[in-house]
Amino acid sequence: MSPATGRACGKLILLGEHAVVYGHRAIAAAVSRGVTVTLTPRPGPTRLERGPADARLAQVLALALPAEGLGVDIHSELPTGRGMGSSAALSVALLRARAALAGRTLDFDTLHHEGFALERIFHGNPSGLDHAVCALGGAVLYRRGEAPTPLPMPSHPVVVLDSGAAGDTSALVAAVAARRPGVDSALAGLGALVEQALGVLDQPAALGALLLEAHALLRQLGVSTPALDALVALAMDHGATGAKLAGAGGGGVVLALTPDGGEALLREARRRDISAFCCRLPEA
Ligand code: MEV
Repeated sequence: MSPATGRACGKLILLGEHAVVYGHRAIAAAVSRGVTVTLTPRPGPTRLERGPADARLAQVLALALPAEGLGVDIHSELPTGRGMGSSAALSVALLRARAALAGRTLDFDTLHHEGFALERIFHGNPSGLDHAVCALGGAVLYRRGEAPTPLPMPSHPVVVLDSGAAGDTSALVAAVAARRPGVDSALAGLGALVEQALGVLDQPAALGALLLEAHALLRQLGVSTPALDALVALAMDHGATGAKLAGAGGGGVVLALTPDGGEALLREARRRDISAFCCRLPEA
């Protein structure tokens, strides 16, 4: 048998993280950076030949793959723990590689269903948003427990600013759960911003204002950090119409909407040694 490969793109959440865990809708979109998994038949026990040394990954491989006969190579272009869907993309890529090895392709429902089982190992109580976007690509409107809807949304230029710290999604989701019901109005507010955004997806100024409001509510949830707040302020001082942390928070990245293309922001980020890149959202 020859090696088989699966790939999935990463994602950024435009609006609705954390609230989506509690039944509110969220909007997320794919980025072209992603994860590629290659499975190569080999004698002996299945083993990770290249990839991050992570106890949760070992559990995922044990659940998804036969105990014997495969070498696993994981190549990720996504920083880990930065809210860009590295574990969701890994889960989807792994399932695709396993199917390819058997000469099959997987439909979305199977990927979403089986991806949930793997994401639970990585993230405890995931909404399913991350691996839905990584599997579907494009922009997606998602409510937990329902089929995701592809969202026709114009592709916006954005700058992604990395705080340099990783957040632990599982711990952050659990921390928000522990603060309920006190944070329920902030969660409802995040959900309401998604509904408002659906009417202004083609208006960068109005959409940016909603992103800023979302960041303020995410701060109320306790998932922002001083470094993330400083990156949002930096983005607003350098041409962004709005910016917010994207993903679970506690570190990770800030997403800045930059209709001007983001050159000034990117230049300033580089001057300050902040890791940053421009892309389009959605991109893949
Ligand atoms: C993490 O990328 C997004 C969260 O809303 C968790 C989830 O939806 O599973 C924080």
